Amino acid sequence: MSIPIPAKRIAAFEKKAYGMFIHYGLYSQLACGEKTMDFNKIPLEEYVKLKDTFTAESFDSKKIAAFAKASGMKYITLTSRHHDGFSLYDTKGLCDYDAVHSPAGRDLIRDFVDACNEEGIMPMLYHTTIDWYQSSYHEDFESYLQYLRDSVEILCTNYGKIGGFWFDGNWDRPNVDWQEDQLYGLIRKYQPDAMIINNTGVDALGRAGHPELDSVTYELGRPKPMKRDGAPKYLAAEMCNTLNDHWGYAPEDFNYKSVAQMIETLCGCRKVGANYLLNIGPMGDGSIVPLQANMIESVGEWIKKCGKCIYDGNPSEIVGEDKNFALECHGKLYLFIFSLKTFIENRKSKYVYFQKLPGAVKQIKWTDNAENVEFVQS
Ligand code: GLC
Repeated sequence: MSIPIPAKRIAAFEKKAYGMFIHYGLYSQLACGEKTMDFNKIPLEEYVKLKDTFTAESFDSKKIAAFAKASGMKYITLTSRHHDGFSLYDTKGLCDYDAVHSPAGRDLIRDFVDACNEEGIMPMLYHTTIDWYQSSYHEDFESYLQYLRDSVEILCTNYGKIGGFWFDGNWDRPNVDWQEDQLYGLIRKYQPDAMIINNTGVDALGRAGHPELDSVTYELGRPKPMKRDGAPKYLAAEMCNTLNDHWGYAPEDFNYKSVAQMIETLCGCRKVGANYLLNIGPMGDGSIVPLQANMIESVGEWIKKCGKCIYDGNPSEIVGEDKNFALECHGKLYLFIFSLKTFIENRKSKYVYFQKLPGAVKQIKWTDNAENVEFVQS
């Protein structure tokens, strides 16, 4: 058996390692997460009024793209449409439930893609397959699927090159025919280099789906090593995660991760070659929550100091104790050692062990100050 060769777009995606997820839409104004319409049983006729107050005045794509890039992120996945059915882009008359027909009066996806291109960071689009606005979603599924394809076609043909499409929602109706051939065929026709992803949700982590899909997802779950031997196609893996427990803006959710946890998760993803897609939920007006920005900035500082190998580094056979592991990168090995201080204090030996090294080690240095580390190889 052998491991299939990755398509170019998939190999390139894997090396991006770390991306920013953005959940932004009408719901951001309610400050209760992206699914508040459903969770809090807000009637549609009430909910749609949020369009009349949607200004997005502080949603600054240039600032976001520059910030993500400076923090070590290599791509951004923004919600072009979420389950509430509201689109951040000009749907060209398909439906006027979009940003252009709101007080914002602009196409946020246009601005987003342009800003990403200017910064040299890859734009990707999250697109829901669920729709709480279109009655056809329940009443006339065939015509709903046509609407979905038409919506995606607009995204494929009006914004230049899109890095990828990240669908989400098929899990809502597991027993219907989503006509995926047609949807993905459309993308391959107009955007042959785009990654195609379809989130399998928290209950089906890492499950491969339709043959056109390019990556598996690990929503909120730890990615596992990919079993690629004999697989029909080389798939990337991506884990998406929240900063607190919500995707959309939710200021009353204080259950934030620590920066150390975020770094550890990033490393845990790279250990198995998976990407880490880290979410922010901007406020109603589109500005970034300062705490979220600070957290992401801190992770970026760690990458600059210690973690530059996360992009090109490949998973290795080397075995460390506990969570420790190593990446191989351009002829060097990068050893990742968690909780170094407690690790050494709690044990009698002063050594941290690694096994299955491929050959004689010449030198070990700390990544931050380049000082030599004492070691013994036996
Ligand atoms: C889940 C949620 C959805 C969110 C997505 C992000 O599918 O239902 O609201 O956008 O996760 O991964």
